Amino acid sequence: MVESSAEPVTSLYVHVPFCAKKCSYCAFYSEASDGETVNRYITALLREMDCLGSQFRPRTIFFGGGTPSLLNLKQWERILSAMDRLGWLRAGEWTVECNPATVSLDKARLLRSHGVNRISMGVQSLNEPLLELLGRVHTRSMVFKSFDILRRAGFDNLNLDLMFAIPGQTLDVWRETLNEALSMGSEHLSSYEVIYEEDTALYAQLRAGQFAEDEDLACAMYEELVQQTAAAGFEQYEIANFARHQSDRFGGKTGWVESFGSPVRSEAQVPALACRHNINYWRGGSFYGLGPSATSYLQGVRARNLANTSLYCERIERGQPPVESQEQLPPLARAGETAAFGLRMVAGWPFEQFQQVTGHDLRKTWADEMGELSRRGWALTKLDRFQLTPQGLRFADAAAQLFLK
Ligand SMILES: C[S@@+](CC[C@H](N)C(=O)[O-])C[C@H]1O[C@@H](n2cnc3c(N)ncnc32)[C@H](O)[C@@H]1O
Ligand code: SF4
Repeated sequence: MVESSAEPVTSLYVHVPFCAKKCSYCAFYSEASDGETVNRYITALLREMDCLGSQFRPRTIFFGGGTPSLLNLKQWERILSAMDRLGWLRAGEWTVECNPATVSLDKARLLRSHGVNRISMGVQSLNEPLLELLGRVHTRSMVFKSFDILRRAGFDNLNLDLMFAIPGQTLDVWRETLNEALSMGSEHLSSYEVIYEEDTALYAQLRAGQFAEDEDLACAMYEELVQQTAAAGFEQYEIANFARHQSDRFGGKTGWVESFGSPVRSEAQVPALACRHNINYWRGGSFYGLGPSATSYLQGVRARNLANTSLYCERIERGQPPVESQEQLPPLARAGETAAFGLRMVAGWPFEQFQQVTGHDLRKTWADEMGELSRRGWALTKLDRFQLTPQGLRFADAAAQLFLK
C-alpha cells in the first residue's frame, strides 16, 4: 500500500453510543443510558477530541451511533462549542444520524447553525406492524413530522435509511414504503437488506424458526429499489446508496463541497449529493474515529476503541488511549480489502486510482478474479476501470470475497 504521509487525514467519525431502546436487528454498539453516563461520555469525548487538536481540519464529519439525536440541547452545546474551539465547524460535509423519535426544531436549528449540513434519518419502514417488529421507538407519522422539522430548520441535504427483506414484509408493502419514502423528496436514500447479526433478537427468532429467509423475494425487492429510485430521479452510486444530482435542485450548480477553502476530494461518476464521508471509506481513505467502539484507519493501521462506554471513559479519565485493538494487515491483504470495498461502488475501480491508493495494479494482481467475475456476468473490464454489472452489484458481497487475499 502506498503511504502518502503528505496527504492529511480529513475525515472524522464520532460514535454516540446511546439509543432510547435497542432495535431487534441492530448490532451497532449502543445502549439506553441515564443523563449522568451521557455527560461522562461527553467529557471523555471532548478529551479525545482535544488529543487530535486544532491542527486537524476535518472536511467530512459523521456523527453516527447509536442515536446522536438523543443528546439534548445542553449536551450538543458542549460538543459544538468544543469543536468550535478546535476550529472544526467548517467541514464541507457534516452528517448527524437521527432517529425520528428524537428530532426537535430547537435541536435541528442548533445543529444547522453550527455547520451540520446533512442529516441521515433512520426510517427503516413506513409500515406500523413492521416498525413494531423491528423494535423501533417511532411511528410512521413521526417520520413525516421529523422530516418536516428538519426542512424547517434549513436542512437541504437529507438522507433516509430504509430496510428490506424484513420478516413478514411482502413485495407490495415494500413497494408502498419505497414509494412513500421517495415522495418525501429527500436528496439521498440508503437502503439495506436486513442482515441477521448474531446477538440480536431478530437473529434468535430466525434460529428459533419463527420465520425463514427468502432469497428470491429479497432479489425482487432489490430490483424494485433500483427501478423506483431511478424513476424518482436518483442515481445509484453504491450497492445500497442513491443520491440526487445537485442540479436537480439548484439549476446546475456543481457538486463541489467547499471547506477550509478547498473542495472535498471529488470523485468522477458519482452524483453531487453522494455521501463524501462514506466514499472515503470505500476508496480506502484514512479517517479518525472517536467514541466507544469507533474505528480509526490511519496509515494502513486499523484501531478500534473499547466497545464499552464506562471502560472507554475510565481509560480517558486515567489519561490513557481508549483503544481496544489494533490491526495492521500485510500490504497485499490491505490492497485486497480496498479492492473489495471499492467494488461496491457503481463506478467500480479506475485502474489508475487503485494503483495510486494501493500501489498494486488490479489487472495484474487480480487478473484471475477479474476473469472469473466477468465469466459469471458480474463484472465488466473497461478501458480505464473494472466495475460490477447490475447483476454483480446484487451479489457484491460474494464478488468482493474473491479479492480478499
Ligand atoms: C447505526 S444505524 C443509525 C440510525 C439511527 N440510530 C436509527 O436507527 O434511527 C444506521 C443504519 O444501519 C442500518 N442497519 C442497522 N442494522 C442493520 C441490519 N442488521 N441489517 C440491515 N441494516 C441495518 C439501518 O438502516 C440504520 O438506519
Ligand atoms: S438501528 Fe439505530 S436506533 Fe436502532 S438500536 Fe441501532 S443504532 Fe439504535
